[in-house]
Order: sequence, then structure tokens, then C-alpha cells
Amino acid sequence: MENLDQMVAQAQTDFAAAADAAALEQAKARYLGKSGSVTAELKSLGKLDPDARREAGARINQAKGRIEQALEARRSALKEAQLATQLAAEALDVTLPARGAGQGGLHPVSRTLERIEALFRSIGFEVADGPEIEADFQNFTALNTPEDHPARSMHDTFYLQDESGGVAPGVLLRTHTSPIQVRYMQAHVALHAGAETMPEIRVIAPGRVYRVDSDATHSPMFHQVEGLWVGQNVSFADLKGVIADFLRRFFESDDLQVRFRPSFFPFTEPSAEIDMAFMSGALKGRWLEIAGCGMVHPNVLRQVGIDAEKYLGFAFGMGPDRLTMLRYGINDLRLFYDGDLRFLRQFA
Ligand code: PHE
Repeated sequence: MENLDQMVAQAQTDFAAAADAAALEQAKARYLGKSGSVTAELKSLGKLDPDARREAGARINQAKGRIEQALEARRSALKEAQLATQLAAEALDVTLPARGAGQGGLHPVSRTLERIEALFRSIGFEVADGPEIEADFQNFTALNTPEDHPARSMHDTFYLQDESGGVAPGVLLRTHTSPIQVRYMQAHVALHAGAETMPEIRVIAPGRVYRVDSDATHSPMFHQVEGLWVGQNVSFADLKGVIADFLRRFFESDDLQVRFRPSFFPFTEPSAEIDMAFMSGALKGRWLEIAGCGMVHPNVLRQVGIDAEKYLGFAFGMGPDRLTMLRYGINDLRLFYDGDLRFLRQFA
């Protein structure tokens, strides 16, 4: 029957056109399935007389065999193609150079912060931190910096957007670490509420701070370390001693000079800038400003519920980025934040 040869040829074409295993199974059903055309041919045998049936049966079975062969051939071709695609996708180029075991190291500013923490811990200071998205109250108001103070200007500070795109009220990126003073004192007061005498507060607080400022010595994000010592008998002389000792130990230099230059901060009175100068080396005799400081303003103590008649203290805020530049002889602050491995590797 020419009919059968046509069927075989059509099956071969259909199988070859099947792009994947699922399509191939569908094509197979059209010929070998329950209502497939080969099955229909076999069913029709019943109507023939015995001799014709034997002869037709043999031819149908032969056609069926050729269709099954074509199916098998296409099945294994598809399987091979799939394996080849997978192998290509997962290929490893063993001739590529190895990446090597990359070794990390501490950032130079992190090294400085660790060093500052260790030195202050050694004289009984705790280490605290606070949020970088800070409340207006802690960043300004509680620090004796009222609503109309110029430090609140949009130019100095990063404010945050609320969902409608407006300025989120009451929060900002902290402009200094001094709000941690407020948070720490508030917690300390709560912890010792009702005690006859409040234990001393001796704490430093390192962290990131933000200002709209950018050049070789200013970055919109930089670091500060806040220091606070509050007790019944803390004086400006203690402040001078703590700072001078710290700097000499930090720079491992006994002849380093420190001077306190009168200044103004709303939250300290009196206030000063701290300058230092090396007495030897490349920077010999050059005064460099490294911190602000002063005696904690009574208004600040009162804001957090500390009796300003009974307790007093000093605070300072210094720039560890600056200290790192001095310690390693780095002349551009931006190197710290570029993430350039050629620079960073020198400290690893
Ligand atoms: N917070 C001040 C600043 O960022 C520094 C400072 C801290 C001054 C503590 C006095 C006391 O400039």
C-alpha cells in the first residue's frame, strides 16, 4: 500500500520537526497512540479475509517498525543535543588564570578607630554608638541648638525624603556624633533613677557623620569620635590631660604639642578647638586642628535630667580621618572612600 509508505514518510518528517521531547511524544501519539493512524490500520485488519490479513498485517507491522525506528533515532538525537547544550553552558575554561586567594585587610580608618577605642578603654572609657539617621531633637535641640540656629541650615545637613517626596519631618543624617552624648546620658539617667549619686559617665562614641561638604580635606561622609566624661569633679584640666595623653600615645610621640584655642559650640561652655603639632618629621611645627571640645553646657545636662548644680563634665569630638592622614602621611581624604585597592593594600 502506497498509503503506508506515505505514512512512514510523514512520520519521519514530523519527528524530525519535533524540537524537543514533548513535541516528539505528541507526534508519536498521532501514529502509535490509541487513536493513531498505525493503530487504525491494525484495527482495520479484522475486516479482511485470512490470507489478505496475513499479507496486510506483515506490511503494516513493517511500516510500524520503521516509524518506531525513526522515533528512537529522533529521541536519541534530541537527548544528545540537550547534553551538548548543557555541556556548553557549564563549560569550564581550565586555561584561565586562577583568581588566587584574595586577602582582605582593615581599612586605615578602621585601624585608627580600633586604636582609639583601645586607648580610651585602657583609661576606663566605654564605647557606645547611635543611629546615623538621627532625630532632630538629639542632633540639635537637646544640644542647646534651637530651631533658628544656622547649623540647621539645609546647606549643612542631609535631610530625608518621606513617601510623598517631601522632607521627612524630625529626622536627618546626623551631622556629628554629639547626639550619642544625649542618648547615652538619657539611658544612664534612666538606669540610675532614684540613686543618691549617679555613677560617672565615661564614654567614647565613634561613627559616621554627614555634611554637605566635599574637597580634598572634606567628604560628605566622614568619621568622628565623641568623648564624654561627666561626674562630680571633672574639670577642664582633666580634659587637657586626657587629650594630650591620648594624642601622645596615639602617635607614639612624647614631644607632640597640644594647644586649646578658644572657640564656640552651643553645647559646651567654655569651648575650644584642639590643635596639635609634631616636633619632628615632615610636619614639624605645623599646627593642625583635630577636635572640638569644651565643658558640657548646663542646658545640655538639664535637657537629659542631670542636676547641673551637682554634676559637670567635658566633651570632645575629634576627627579620626584627620588622625589617620597624619599618622600615615596621606594628603587627600578622598583616598579613604574611593575603594582603590592600590591604596588600600598598603594597609592590609
Ligand atoms: N560636635 C562638634 C562638631 O561636630 C564637636 C564637639 C563635640 C565640640 C563635643 C564640643 C564637644 O563640630
